[in-house]
Amino acid sequence: MLPWAKTSGVEIEIPKAKEILDTDHYDLEKVKDRILDYLSVRRLKPNMKGPILCFVGPPGVGKTSLGKSIARALGRKFVRLSLGGVHDEAEIRGHRRTYIGALPGQIIQGIRRAETKDPVFMLDEIDKVGRDFRGDPASALLEALDPEQNSSFRDNYLDVTFDLSKVLFITTANMLDPIAEPLRDRMEIIELQGYSEEEKLHIAVRYLVPRQVDENGITAEQIEFPEDALRYVIRHYTREAGVRSLERTIGTICRKQARRLAEGKTEKLVVTQEIIQEFLGGIKIRTEGEIEERTERPGVAVGLAWTPSGGDVLFVEANAMKGKGGFTMTGQIGQVMQESMQAALTWVRSNAAQLGIAENFFADHDIHMHVPAGAIPKDGPSAGVTMATTLVSLLTGHRIRPLLAMTGEITLSGNVLPVGGIKEKVLAAKRAGVTHVILPAENKMNVEEDLTKEQIENLTVHYVKTIDEALRVSLPAVAESTAAKMLSTTPAAAHDKAFAQA
Ligand SMILES: Nc1ncnc2c1ncn2[C@@H]1O[C@H](COP(=O)(O)OP(=O)(O)OP(=O)(O)O)[C@@H](O)[C@H]1O
Ligand SMILES: [Mg+2]
Repeated sequence: MLPWAKTSGVEIEIPKAKEILDTDHYDLEKVKDRILDYLSVRRLKPNMKGPILCFVGPPGVGKTSLGKSIARALGRKFVRLSLGGVHDEAEIRGHRRTYIGALPGQIIQGIRRAETKDPVFMLDEIDKVGRDFRGDPASALLEALDPEQNSSFRDNYLDVTFDLSKVLFITTANMLDPIAEPLRDRMEIIELQGYSEEEKLHIAVRYLVPRQVDENGITAEQIEFPEDALRYVIRHYTREAGVRSLERTIGTICRKQARRLAEGKTEKLVVTQEIIQEFLGGIKIRTEGEIEERTERPGVAVGLAWTPSGGDVLFVEANAMKGKGGFTMTGQIGQVMQESMQAALTWVRSNAAQLGIAENFFADHDIHMHVPAGAIPKDGPSAGVTMATTLVSLLTGHRIRPLLAMTGEITLSGNVLPVGGIKEKVLAAKRAGVTHVILPAENKMNVEEDLTKEQIENLTVHYVKTIDEALRVSLPAVAESTAAKMLSTTPAAAHDKAFAQA
């Protein structure tokens, strides 16, 4: 039976909603603020044909759990549907009954599960809806979600219209780009970003540990997670923007203690580094060590990439061999990255003399550039600086300053252009143990607005406007000799010199 008239929601009380959001989630102040704004408007205008909420962010940052909190705050039922891999329109809108094995669509099934007509209905992975010969599920979704038309949603199986206008739809996505345009237009996008180590620590102490202890049937008297131990897990056993695998790992440790208790050992377990290693095996993630090791030779630079799971470091490598001026590009690179590589090479070639690279080097060598396992599905243009630096390092034989990562796009004349995803990239750099980052000068605002002091603690940020400035940070020895050459060779410098002598 469908809940044609049954509702569950009480009137929205904003202070209470705030309290519930605050008890369930650490920080996320801006996000909670926008949710409360949204709910306030709904309170004042219950029939509002408002936008659909959409939480966008990497896995494990709290999108689903915020949705649950909202339902709790509103006293409404919560239902969830994953749209990942839905290709068929009929999955949304149902089959006609003449079809063998016909079923109502997922939306109506969800309403049936909710048993009320006004649940909080979460549609996960709206960025992973496919489309093929079986029709376009996005347009069926639009009919269900669009406040302008969903008061008379027609499911093919039901064959009568159902009023979805009381449902509070919340969608979630890892990425914004793949969402169909007409859907995106009707959404109020709320972005959630990754957490820093400190934030993860707070979340673990306040939420994850108590929850996992409870879920695994033990008590706070039987296990203790000191801060140091949690930090150790965060740093060496998880590399993620959110806290999902952190929570899972804490769960694993709790289960081991549950087993010990079940086997008759009664003493309290204080989790230490040794215990963690015993339970989880050796360190899973090498951080500073890996970066130092891999950048030991000239021609390897550390780049920063935006990924749907919250940013990562990537290594750009270059090598040269005897040849005839060829240029090969390999690795996980898309069109945009190839163009960045070309631009970087062009810049380096056109500045070869100042950089101290032999004039005929390019004629009798082949250059190979490679980005190992830079698993970036959609590579924004942001690696130009990294690539140019890699090439200069290779061709001058100087290794790049250790524990330095960089991002920025370049023009052929050597200017550095701003790039996206700064917060994610900076957090990724910190997770990887980097101590210096090079960012485009025009991104300074993003750092100041999106990152807290705590998040950039122990990290030196170098803002640059040109590749020359970037090289001064990454390859000081090269930059010095370049500056010296520039002084003696540029027409202006020659003029100055002549003038001074006169
Ligand atoms: N700020 C926070 N405070 C407290 N707990 C949090 C916070 N952020 C995330 N969590 C917890 O982390 C876990 C993972 O979060 P959740 O399932 O909501 O992730 P998600 O954003 O929906 O990820 P996905 O994109 O993979 O679906 C949950 O147990 C959630 O309660
Ligand atoms: Mg989720």
